[in-house]
Amino acid sequence: MSMFPELRMRRLRSLKLIKETRLSKDELILPLFIDDNIARGKKPIESIPGQYRFSIEESVNEVAVARSLGIKSVLLFGIPAKKDEVGSESYNKNGVIQRAVRQIRAEVGDDVVIITDLCLCEYTTHGHCGLVENGKVKNDPTLEVLGRIAVSQAEAGADIVAPSGMMDGMVMAIRKALDEEGFIDTAIMSYAAKYNSALYGPFREAADSGYKFGDRSSYQMECANAREALHEVELDINEGADIVMVKPALFYLDIISRVRTRFDNVPLAAYNVSGEYTMMMAASEKGYLKKNEVMMEGLTAIKRAGADLIITYYAKEAAKLL
Ligand code: PBG
Ligand code: ZN
Repeated sequence: MSMFPELRMRRLRSLKLIKETRLSKDELILPLFIDDNIARGKKPIESIPGQYRFSIEESVNEVAVARSLGIKSVLLFGIPAKKDEVGSESYNKNGVIQRAVRQIRAEVGDDVVIITDLCLCEYTTHGHCGLVENGKVKNDPTLEVLGRIAVSQAEAGADIVAPSGMMDGMVMAIRKALDEEGFIDTAIMSYAAKYNSALYGPFREAADSGYKFGDRSSYQMECANAREALHEVELDINEGADIVMVKPALFYLDIISRVRTRFDNVPLAAYNVSGEYTMMMAASEKGYLKKNEVMMEGLTAIKRAGADLIITYYAKEAAKLL
């Protein structure tokens, strides 16, 4: 082993030749909010600077823009025109997401990977991710509904459904429902290790998915737990998840790294969530941080930790620099 002064690490460093981790545009996934209450155009989301809620029509243009920047995939969240106790708009054949997927597919074509968020919180009046009975979020009755949502999204043309509600058995129930209806090629990207994080605040305003009572701690994970995340991921893989996700990303790089090491044969996504984005954006807007540098450093860190795919509100900005 050679040592200083024969060995000098700075020799190569100054050549800027070695870069172990390389980001590429096609591993960035752009989240989009599609709002049935908007007839045309888009409206800025106050809580997430630089992001919008789109009408269905305008979402098609946005997907086309993302594609032209080299982004391969979008993750769609729907805001329905009406909500009810059981979130029935979520599986309506003519619901906001179902129509949006059909229209994007028709106009943009097969050359975009459409991922649909699969959850109830945007569609229920109480804002929880499952059916509520006597003030409690009920697991097993929710599974049947998740299956119906999955089938309706697959029917509309989604390539991947992404269950984000952290219900036990959700991946198994969704796989079974899809297969029974012949959607054997529709993939499942499971929010396998989703933490009960304070960093989702801006999203909840954007998606109008805030809960009206209690909190999400009976289904989302405690931030102190790492081994539990490995257990969650293992279960989702066994239930048939095609891609597993860790969420949030930047406060949870250790989780990304441990999942990658333990399950080295499964595609891993990480969600760079709204609070992570807004923190960095706010500091950039104030001039405390340099926007592009901190963005690229953050995304590189997520990749370096082991993510194959990164869901990020920075997708378009980052793609322009890659
Ligand atoms: C809801 C959902 C949330 C996010 C994605 N899907 C929020 C929550 O669980 O309350 C957060 C995404 C973000 O903050 O960017 N199932
Ligand atoms: Zn939810």
